[in-house]
Order: sequence, then structure tokens, then C-alpha cells
Amino acid sequence: MKENRVATLMMDDGRSIELPIMSGTMGSDVIDIRGLGTLGMFTYDPAFVSTASCSSSITFIDGEAGLLYYRGYPIEQLAEKSDFLEVCFLLLHGELPNAKQKSEFSGKVMKHTMVHDQLARFFNGFRRDAHPMAVMVGVVGALSAFYHDSLDINSPENREISALRLLSKVPTIAAMTYKYYTGFPFMFPKNEFSYVENFMYMMFATPAEDYVPNQKLVRALERIFILHADHEQNASTSTVRLAGSSGANPFACVSSGIAALWGPAHGGANEAVLKMLEEIGDVSRVADFMDGVKDKKFRLMGFGHRVYKNMDPRAKVMRATCYEVLEELKLEKDPLFLMALELEQIALRDEYFIERKLYPNVDFYSGIVLRALGIPSNMFTVIFAVARTIGWVSQWNEMISDSERKIARPRQLYKGATQRNFVPLANR
Ligand code: ACO
Repeated sequence: MKENRVATLMMDDGRSIELPIMSGTMGSDVIDIRGLGTLGMFTYDPAFVSTASCSSSITFIDGEAGLLYYRGYPIEQLAEKSDFLEVCFLLLHGELPNAKQKSEFSGKVMKHTMVHDQLARFFNGFRRDAHPMAVMVGVVGALSAFYHDSLDINSPENREISALRLLSKVPTIAAMTYKYYTGFPFMFPKNEFSYVENFMYMMFATPAEDYVPNQKLVRALERIFILHADHEQNASTSTVRLAGSSGANPFACVSSGIAALWGPAHGGANEAVLKMLEEIGDVSRVADFMDGVKDKKFRLMGFGHRVYKNMDPRAKVMRATCYEVLEELKLEKDPLFLMALELEQIALRDEYFIERKLYPNVDFYSGIVLRALGIPSNMFTVIFAVARTIGWVSQWNEMISDSERKIARPRQLYKGATQRNFVPLANR
């Protein structure tokens, strides 16, 4: 019934064109506009608000209904029942692993956790007070100078090795970034730990003391990793795909994704939420702050989403995790948390937010959880980058394997000067 449908575009000069309508397995249909070139025209869609830039089988979002699926599995089920490496296998390979596949995959990931000793020297080139994301962009990008043995991107085996290396080494680099700016020695990974335990160990242990990870906190960070692992064609993922479409080095592509993630409208949002809460300072000032938001003096960070026009399903899980962590650490009366709850309650009842369909996104709560775990706010986006690495690399891998792959090259609506002749310097 859905086959052979077309959209007919009628031009004001009498020409017309039939454009095929394509359907995916779920979600909105799309109009295939590739034939428009025959009319000598392009579409105009700044910020890709109405454009599907690729087809993908990895992640599905229904923003109106507030649904997020990885390879068909609802995010709530994965967050509750799965673990991060299992989710990584799912994103990369399309299916949940069986017991043997799971243990082999975990073994391979945990075997690659150390970084080349030469890579550690890159840190010394950075100021100690550099933003950790600046260091991440640089050091993860520097991975592209290593591993020449496995950089044939047209080889599925080489792509798998690069994916495993990224998955294994980005947490190590992230923890080294933290140690570098706090002045503590780097901690080598301990492969007997789980992926998340090992990350917490590299972040929080020192050579002077034993470190025993708190399992409730490990589980909370595991959830944060699962919830942030992939999110369809967002800004950073699209950046990785765009960079990768030229055949560029995968480590360099992931570094470009980290750069895109850094912005406050994307991965920088949970850091911005904490900054906002600190600036508000006290529950008594929340109402004034909200008046300022409605006067458009500033935005309520952690609210709103380009795709979700309903509660972000990740936010529901994160909200519950937030309560669990604060209870475990006896921080229920934490003033920032109380302020966040007050903001949330006002926003959920206020017409301004209701009519614009602005709901809390995952970052509204993840910042509070990360802070409670002892992670400073300038590391929040780094944590996001650690979690999202698997999404970037899975999407990159899918793009490279796509038979329709071409270098991505958007067009433009030119509004600059028309042709004019060069004016010599003396006459200007
Ligand atoms: N606070 C107040 N008003 C807002 C907010 C907000 N957080 N977000 C959107 N609005 C308002 C806009 O002012 C606009 O109002 P108008 O119609 O009167 O002009 C309307 O809602 C639509 O906003 P847009 O900017 O067009 O929405 P867009 O989809 O482009 O933006 C975005 C989405 C960038 C996430 C935005 O909601 C925002 O800035 N939120 C705060 C930052 C944030 O939390 N980002 C995290 C995103 S989730 C993630 O990356 C994991």
C-alpha cells in the first residue's frame, strides 16, 4: 500500500517533478529530493531541521512520543537490564551479544585500554588550566598519528579494530585529562575491573591508596553511559559522519565529533545546568530567574530539545538515578538539587514551557548525578564524549559500509556580492 508513492512539486514556471516518497521501518516518511537537480534547484534547510541526511539502522527517536530505541530496544529496558559494553556491542553489531560474544568483546575492549606511552607526552603541551574538552579534542585527535597498521577504512576488520581502540582508549584519555589538570599522577588502567569500574578507578584512585568502587555509583555511571551512547543524527554524530565521508582517519573524525559536542547547545548543556544552578544560588531566587527566562534574557538550561517535544525518555531514567545516587550519598538536601526540583516543578506547570513543548532533557539531571559522583562540572562533557564514542564509531562504521556512500557536500543559497572587478589598493 505504501509502495510507489510520490510527492509532486509544481513550479511557478509550469514545470513539475515527481519525487519518490520513502518509508523506513518506523518514523516519518521522507521525500527523496535527489532528483531536484534536474530542475537546477536545491532545497533550503538551514540546520537540517527537515532533512534526513542518511538512512540508518542504529537508533530511532520519536520526539513527539518521547521514545528512544537502540537497534529496536527501548532505552529504559537497556538502562535497567543491560550493561554498557553489551550496549556497545549492540550498537556496533546490530544484535545483543550471546554469552560467548559478550565475554570475547569485553576481553578485547579491556585489552586495549592502555595508550601508547608517547601519547602521554601530548598532555605536557597543554596548560594545566586548559578546558578538559580542549585537551580531549587534541589528544583523541592525536590517536590518528598512531596505528598505521589498521587504517584501511574499507576493511571491516580494520574498522572493527579502530572501533575497539576508540572504545578502550577514550576513557583512559578522559581520566588522564582529569588527572593532568588536578595535578595527580596518571593511573594505568586495571583490566580486571569492568569498563565503568575501570574508568572510575582511573579517575579517582591514587597510587597511595587502595580503591574499591561503590557499586551503586558504578551502576549510576553505567546508566549515564548507556543513556548517552547514541542519539541518531545529532550535531556531533553528523560531524563525525561528514568528516568521515571524505575517507578521513577515524580517530580524527571522532575528535571532530568531540569538538561539536563541546558546545553548550549540545554536550555542554549539563555543565551549563550546573553553572546556571550555581548562579541562581538559592531556591528563593528561582522565581525571579524564571521570569528572566520567559523574558528571553537567558535559557533554562537542560530544558528543550530539537527532537523531543515530550519528556526525554533518558531524562526519566536519569531522574530516578539522581534520587538513588543522592540517597546513597545522603545528599537529598543538597541545595543545588532542591533548586533543580523547584525549577523543574515551575517549568512543568508554566504556560511558556507547555506551549513550546519544553520538557527536561537528560542533561537537566545528569549534571546533578555527575556532581554527586565527585566529577567536576568541566569534566561533564568529557563523560558524555566517553559514552558517545561508541555511537560515533558505530555511525561512522555504518556510513563507510553504505553502498550509497559519497562525500557529504551541502549546497547553499548565495546572498553575497554579484560579480565585480578588482579595485587596486590605491583606489579603495
Ligand atoms: N529555555 C527557554 N526557552 C527555550 C528553551 C530553553 N531551554 N529552549 C527553547 N526555548 C524557546 C525558544 O526561545 C523559542 O521560543 P519562541 O518560539 O518564543 O521564539 C522556542 O522555545 C523554540 O526554541 P528553538 O531554539 O527554536 O528550539 P531548537 O529546537 O532550535 O533548540 C535546544 C533546541 C538548542 C536544545 C534548546 O531547547 C536549548 O537551547 N535548550 C537549552 C540547552 C540544552 O539543554 N541543550 C541540551 C540538548 S540535549 C543534548 O544535547 C543531550
